[in-house]
Amino acid sequence: MCGIVGYIGKEPSKILINKLKKLEYRGYDSAGIAVGSVNNIRIFKAVGEIKNLEKTVVPAKDAAFGIGHTRWATHGKPDETNAHPHLSSDRKWIVVHNGIIENYAVLKEKLSGKGYAFYSETDTEVIAKLLEYYSGKTCGDLNIIAETLAALKGSFALGIINAEKDGIYFAKNKSPLFIARNGENVMLASDIICFKGFAEEYYALPDGVFGFADKNGIKFFDSIGETDIKPCILDLDEYDDLNKYKHFMLKEIYETKSAVKNILEYYSGINIDKVFSGCDFGKIKRIKFVGCGTAYHACLLGAIAVEEKTGIECGAFVASEFRYSDPKISEDTLVVLISQSGETADTLAALEQAKVKGAYTVAIVNVEYSTLKKGAHAYLPIKAGVEIAVASTKAFSAQLVVLEIFAEMLAEKFGIKHANFEGVRKLYENFDYGNVNSYKLLADALRYNDRLFMIGRGRDYCIAQEASLKIKETSYINSDTYYAGELKHGFLALIDEQTYVIVFATQKNVLQKTLCNAEEARARGAKIILFTCFDLDQSETENFYYVIKIKEIDGGLQNVLSIVPWQIIAYYTSVSKGINPDKPRNLAKSVTVE
Ligand code: M6R
Repeated sequence: MCGIVGYIGKEPSKILINKLKKLEYRGYDSAGIAVGSVNNIRIFKAVGEIKNLEKTVVPAKDAAFGIGHTRWATHGKPDETNAHPHLSSDRKWIVVHNGIIENYAVLKEKLSGKGYAFYSETDTEVIAKLLEYYSGKTCGDLNIIAETLAALKGSFALGIINAEKDGIYFAKNKSPLFIARNGENVMLASDIICFKGFAEEYYALPDGVFGFADKNGIKFFDSIGETDIKPCILDLDEYDDLNKYKHFMLKEIYETKSAVKNILEYYSGINIDKVFSGCDFGKIKRIKFVGCGTAYHACLLGAIAVEEKTGIECGAFVASEFRYSDPKISEDTLVVLISQSGETADTLAALEQAKVKGAYTVAIVNVEYSTLKKGAHAYLPIKAGVEIAVASTKAFSAQLVVLEIFAEMLAEKFGIKHANFEGVRKLYENFDYGNVNSYKLLADALRYNDRLFMIGRGRDYCIAQEASLKIKETSYINSDTYYAGELKHGFLALIDEQTYVIVFATQKNVLQKTLCNAEEARARGAKIILFTCFDLDQSETENFYYVIKIKEIDGGLQNVLSIVPWQIIAYYTSVSKGINPDKPRNLAKSVTVE
């Protein structure tokens, strides 16, 4: 996580602050910048959001370059001391860092033994001190940087200033970093969204590359020597206008329908053979879906959809577990990685592991310039457009739609039937956000709870998981999810008159079973909130505390209509508790560390 930015040109502090605001989705617990000119660098830091930093910065007329950082704390609490930039003891080297230095404790001990004193708890300070250490051992900044990088284990995107030099050094390994140029101005950033309005082309740094930029240009190096990197065209959607909305989360929920349209348009003309070129479907015996958080919930539903349509054994895995579990993967395995950002560290590690073991890999991802997209054999975009709010909403719904399309594509590749995307068209035509007033009423009731239970079977259970995560992350309410059939195996003991149990019942084949489970909880005093797409007899629902009835559509795409109300409920619960749903405490949008 964390976002770094660098700028060479006029008014660097203003530009750095503006760009850090764009990177705030990567972390917002503290921020800092180092700006100035040769031998005249000033550092400003503040705890909390960038707007706090903005108030502390005093712009200098002659400032010509700078680096900045927005932090999601990994080593040390979020205070000004631990906020970046970090300094060498002689204050010559100034560093901003995104990533984790895994061997920092060993390096810190070694450097302490050589007399270096540390002021922060961060792993980044070790980099600044190492640069100073190697300054005494070797000549030339690029050699010093190369020696320093060689000593580091872990992930890093670095912006480095030598206070005696005009310009910015940079380096990248396993954390995203991009650089762009416009005449004599240069910009370095963790995300290309910073380049909007600045440049039409940018360079995506590969792992192992470092370099130097000043007003004369940018030079790239790898372990062999100077190297060349081809520029990419900057092609970004408009995204950062809230329009009439107060928060990105609500705006993004209401962009779901247009995402479905984009998906339909894109996939209607798709050449399925070309998408999966290089995959020998005759060999495939199992399919594994891997992701984290919300994307993992999409994996659960993807596994159900694909297994239903192809008959091939499917399973869903949390990436942080998958990567250390020695999963059964070989050339007979399709591994599907799902991610909004395409930069989630655990998901990327799972991708590498799957490739090493010979699997064919498919990335289902939103960010088209992401590492995940570039690394997988096949790529299915989810076409949701830029998602800013930390709580993923339209991206999840778009993942579900693309997973239904994926299931159809695989059914064709396995010779079962022709791919048919009519279900997606029907979803688009029948798309319904539901009765938002009733969601607001429910949000008002839920805000006073500190404990919720959500139950369901099959696909409903997966949607309950995602609804529960949305409530947790945006409203700080402890919400647990159970399979409805598991109630009597333990969790009933937790139920009393104060307990709300939210029952997801949108599948006909298990409707009556699920209603029985709801009754079991109600008989123990629970307040039942029934969430269904069916018209039920009054006798079946009269004892329930609240009933939410949503539109019914055929098949797995019902899940899209099921999750949207819960995203809206989570949003209004959050707002009614005075929380900023776009930036929940302790979280960040892109989780680029383990
Ligand atoms: O970018 P990714 O989809 O890989 O991110 C995975 C999770 O970090 C993400 O879904 C997280 O759970 C969201 N905050 C959920 O709203």
